[in-house]
Amino acid sequence: MVEKSTQKVRIWDLPVRLFHWTLVALIAVSYFTGQAGGDWMKFHFWSGYAILTLLIFRIAWGFVGSTTARFSNFVKGPLAAIAHLREMLGRGRPHDAGHNPVGGAMVVALLLAVLLQVVAGLFSADTDTGTVTGPLARLVTDKWIERATAFHEFWINVILVMVALHILAAIVYLVWKKQNLIGAMLHGRKALHDVVPPGEEAPLLAFASGRLALSLLIAAAAIVYFIVRLGG
Ligand code: HEM
Repeated sequence: MVEKSTQKVRIWDLPVRLFHWTLVALIAVSYFTGQAGGDWMKFHFWSGYAILTLLIFRIAWGFVGSTTARFSNFVKGPLAAIAHLREMLGRGRPHDAGHNPVGGAMVVALLLAVLLQVVAGLFSADTDTGTVTGPLARLVTDKWIERATAFHEFWINVILVMVALHILAAIVYLVWKKQNLIGAMLHGRKALHDVVPPGEEAPLLAFASGRLALSLLIAAAAIVYFIVRLGG
């Protein structure tokens, strides 16, 4: 949809934006409750289940969601990524309706990294006290619990570094290229001149229904419920 008076183009649907900012909040909750331990671990578990629900939803949305949410729209090869980096280093102005080729790769990496973290968490346990046990830890041997726990404790640092790079990239865009990607992730719109070169028409983007998004979210929550119950 193009609003001529303000020359803004709708880019991100509501499900993608809600997904993003809820994920950010839940990762913060998971981090701090994990650090606090003790009674806070109850919230750590619930937050992890909610993150897994979001991730399953987002992966499905990447196949059947709105144009800019689809993996086919932003997963590009290394050549596209190199071309984008050249454009970024030069004086040129990048034009992207959705994720740029480098951002798209980072999005996939972040989704996979967080997914790995949650899966490891399901199999983790505090073997010293035996008081905190991931819902699937009973399904595997102590050796695998130890591996999963060590990975879970280490991998959060990798995620934090990736998030720092992700935020840095958004700041570089804002300061150097004067393009506000953060605002777009909040309200869903971008300036037309950030989407296409001057004189070009706005691209035709399709937006999937909110009802479909809600159905997928409920299905994702059901899947997580059954995964958690697997451990008995
Ligand atoms: C735990 C922290 C974060 C994680 C795991 C994360 C992850 C993600 C993911 C997965 C996407 C893709 C959204 C989608 O297509 O569904 C995304 C996009 C985006 N994120 Fe984050 N994010 C985090 C924090 C932040 C913060 C703090 C900011 C703002 C300063 C931010 C700014 C953005 C922007 C601007 C985009 C869109 C990039 C583009 O236009 O291509 N993110 N993020």
